[in-house]
Amino acid sequence: MNKVKVAPSILSADFGKMAEAVANIKEWGADWVHCDVMDGVYVPNITFGMPMVKALRGYTDMFLDVHLMITEPEKHVGAFCDSGADMVTFHPDASKNPQLAIDIIKSKGKLCGVVLNADQPFEIIEPYLDKVDMVLIMTVQAGFGGQSFMAERLDMVKRVKDIKDKMGYKYLIQLDGGISPSNVQLCKEAGMEIAVAGNSVFKANNPTVSVQSMQIEIG
Ligand code: DX5
Ligand code: ZN
Repeated sequence: MNKVKVAPSILSADFGKMAEAVANIKEWGADWVHCDVMDGVYVPNITFGMPMVKALRGYTDMFLDVHLMITEPEKHVGAFCDSGADMVTFHPDASKNPQLAIDIIKSKGKLCGVVLNADQPFEIIEPYLDKVDMVLIMTVQAGFGGQSFMAERLDMVKRVKDIKDKMGYKYLIQLDGGISPSNVQLCKEAGMEIAVAGNSVFKANNPTVSVQSMQIEIG
């Protein structure tokens, strides 16, 4: 039986102890490491870039899921692939040439995703659905960790899942923002396969229990 994969976001970790954070993510039994890259332009916040991904690659064999919240991602996706990312996901509206970004990521032999922000219509991602390995649907406005989950986006998740089933598309469906053991069931029922989780893992009393309680079976 397939289970929801949990991808803890290191945005919620201690930035002075990132190597320890990725070691902990593995110990807690999570599936992927989610890396939130913000440039202070596409979103107001600034986090880290490819040197961090490269450094983490030296400390972990886990799947590095890189979420780019940057302008003109096509200029940088290649470098993120070369730094050791396994999946590179970008916001198509931030790009002057989303197809080029997809082509570069694929040419590097990596998986590619597109993101739909919490205030955006379906049409933003529609042209890329037959070309990508993952669709990330934000359940908070991209930019900061620790925000409240927007349940009203679950209709969009269902729409993306319905189209996947109807058209036979292969993309995974990932949700990001405010995901926790309390809403994971609803998210899964809507179509979520990968749960990004920042605060609900890193700030949990028992991160292992939190991770396990989100790794629910996909029927
Ligand atoms: C928000 C980031 C998320 C965030 C998730 O822009 O993309 O990955 O860190 O953190 P929580 O789970 O705390 O909302
Ligand atoms: Zn993210």
